[in-house]
Amino acid sequence: MKYSPWYTLTEESQYNNYLNSIYQEYGSPFNMANEESFTDMFQWYEKLYPAVARSKVFSEYCIKLFGTDLSQQGFYTMAQLDLMLSKLNPVSDTCILEIGCGLGKFSEYISDNFGSIVYGIDYSPAAIAIVKERTKTKRKKLSFETGNINTIKYPENTFDIVLALDCIFFASDLKTTLKNIHSWLRPNGKLAVIYGVFRFDKSEPVEIMYANTSPLANAFHDAGFTYKVFDFTKQLYEHQLLKRKTVLELKQKFTDDGTLFLYEYLYRESVDLSAGFDEFREFAAYYLYLYEKI
Ligand SMILES: C[S@@+](CC[C@H](N)C(=O)[O-])C[C@H]1O[C@@H](n2cnc3c(N)ncnc32)[C@H](O)[C@@H]1O
Repeated sequence: MKYSPWYTLTEESQYNNYLNSIYQEYGSPFNMANEESFTDMFQWYEKLYPAVARSKVFSEYCIKLFGTDLSQQGFYTMAQLDLMLSKLNPVSDTCILEIGCGLGKFSEYISDNFGSIVYGIDYSPAAIAIVKERTKTKRKKLSFETGNINTIKYPENTFDIVLALDCIFFASDLKTTLKNIHSWLRPNGKLAVIYGVFRFDKSEPVEIMYANTSPLANAFHDAGFTYKVFDFTKQLYEHQLLKRKTVLELKQKFTDDGTLFLYEYLYRESVDLSAGFDEFREFAAYYLYLYEKI
């Protein structure tokens, strides 16, 4: 490894202890009927990831829907990831940071396929515990650490590529986050953000849905950064229809697996099979933003 931005890598056993303490507090992830007790996103992800990591049906769902099991929690397709990768062009020893890596399978996919050095961070200790254990034989190229997008710090000029897939909306200040990422990028380094905007509240201005006036686009403008953007909204609609169909087909298997709560959240995230694109477009937009540090 060329350089570790984590000065002290936490022992993996500490994460396993943490995971065990979560199970003791909340019970096995397969028996978590008390969903109401998970009052915030953090607790939700602590519950979600151990269940996803163990669920054979979730894996089957990913393969049916995406073609590949990357434990996807995002809405992008493999074709969109391939397009993104073709623009980023990672090669052996490209140094990559993936923010919000979840179970880290996309980080691992890039490292395995391109030989790149990938650092994944996520604020879910449960996810990081699982991914550290799964990838422990790959430490020369792959490292994972818990980290909050709002507080992580790296030295200037550390990464060739920074990725944020369906997670930058967790940044409390998008402009500051973009400026931070800009400073961590090496010259000609690239940032790729896959970003959805969902306008469920019709009182919000419709401009938040547009590629060049979304909150993220505005943050790029405010930071003085130029970007390229690809509109994936139509594909998102088609993907969400397929998702509804896929989860309905797998409902009984999720029930038998003891992970019906996964079915329920995937069902809620997907789109009604009778909904038309125009209706969908009223409240959903989905983009890939690319930025290059000059
Ligand atoms: C919608 S999921 C996307 C996960 C993954 N990128 C994917 O596409 O499958 C959002 C991820 O962001 C992580 N997350 C949420 N808030 C965060 C924060 N403040 N800092 C870092 N990660 C965060 C969650 O734990 C979760 O893994």
